[in-house]
Amino acid sequence: MKNADQWVHDHRAEWSYKKLIQWVRPGEQVLNLGAGDCRLDLLLKNRMRCDLIPVDVENHNETTLPVTLYDGKTLPFPDQCVDVVLLLWVLHHAEDPAAVLSEAHRVARRAVIVFEDRNESVTDRMIFRGFHRFLRWSQGFSLPHHEWTRDQWSHLATTAGFKTSWEGLIGRQLGPFASCGIGFVWEPIHAQNRANLKTLTANSFEKRGLEVAVTGGDL
Ligand SMILES: C[S@@+](CC[C@H](N)C(=O)[O-])C[C@H]1O[C@@H](n2cnc3c(N)ncnc32)[C@H](O)[C@@H]1O
Repeated sequence: MKNADQWVHDHRAEWSYKKLIQWVRPGEQVLNLGAGDCRLDLLLKNRMRCDLIPVDVENHNETTLPVTLYDGKTLPFPDQCVDVVLLLWVLHHAEDPAAVLSEAHRVARRAVIVFEDRNESVTDRMIFRGFHRFLRWSQGFSLPHHEWTRDQWSHLATTAGFKTSWEGLIGRQLGPFASCGIGFVWEPIHAQNRANLKTLTANSFEKRGLEVAVTGGDL
């Protein structure tokens, strides 16, 4: 029979899986950054035939999948090597979320999917703090470094060169006593896409006999 701890781990993986099937496509290459127990990775691999790369800074793996450990700053993978990067409840645990997001941007071809906590109200923040103390006690995860809101995460994504294709509330993973989650689907805008966009914009201006003034990396 399952103990309470196993039940919580299985429930979290199932919950995240059910959310993700609207954004992850069957057979895609998925890098799960901050994979934790890797149970979600197993579900995506077995049910959607995705090619999974679990990565973390600490080994919390409870599956037979191989996990890659890294220094929390530089991923040991080439540019644009996977379709999707998952960052589920990870960025607030990272010492330097901008560095983590920048690496996710570098390796992702299609999308980076992020789950975070809402942290808008005093109640949200009390639940967030209490829940993380419980997580530290029960599973040994470090306490969060950041207690950010949706606007702060969105700002970070824009600065890192992402375009938002979806964002919204995703519910409470562990029922009424847990934080309300926010989901983000961010599309990385890569340098060559920026260059293509500039050329397209310049061509369309030229065709219409207008002066071309495309500067900087704002596109
Ligand atoms: C709350 S757990 C979430 C685990 C998993 N994503 C899930 O949804 O079950 C946070 C995870 O982030 C990892 N982590 C912390 N800092 C990180 C960093 N800089 N890069 C990647 N993972 C990190 C921790 O080791 C831990 O596995």
